[in-house]
Amino acid sequence: MTSILMVCLGNICRSPLAHGIMEHKLNPNNYYVDSAGTADYHVSAAPDRRSIKVAKENGIDISSQRGRQFQVSDFDKFDHIFVMDNSNLNNVAKLARNASDMQKVKLILDTQKETTAEIVPDPYYGDFSDFEKVFKILDKACNYWIERL
Ligand code: 4NP
Repeated sequence: MTSILMVCLGNICRSPLAHGIMEHKLNPNNYYVDSAGTADYHVSAAPDRRSIKVAKENGIDISSQRGRQFQVSDFDKFDHIFVMDNSNLNNVAKLARNASDMQKVKLILDTQKETTAEIVPDPYYGDFSDFEKVFKILDKACNYWIERL
């Protein structure tokens, strides 16, 4: 079993989408996918309704996900930890205990030359079209990593 954790700030916009998209593409017998936020703002909350909507429009139900905060123990539980932006990367790096913890952590758009963005922009203060853009970016990024996991 390979385990993958998607991490953003609030765990209500970007990482729930990344979680849902990746889970949808992978065989659950071989892969476990989860998500978390570096902040505790939205612990136990459902994803943002705009993330739920854009996922649903693409055939993915993320409505039963609930927010949780990233824990140091996640370094032990997960093989791959994908973060959405440099701020998430710094926040996770602060909790890393050693180099092997950090080896698991990657920007989800790292090495993805075919997208123009290097970070997944935070759509929280944007409108629905920002969530549609994030969905497309993450869908491509997940395809990229699935070929390389
Ligand atoms: P996310 O977006 O990190 O993609 O879930 C955010 C959600 C909530 C907040 C910030 C970003 N917030 O400040 O509450």
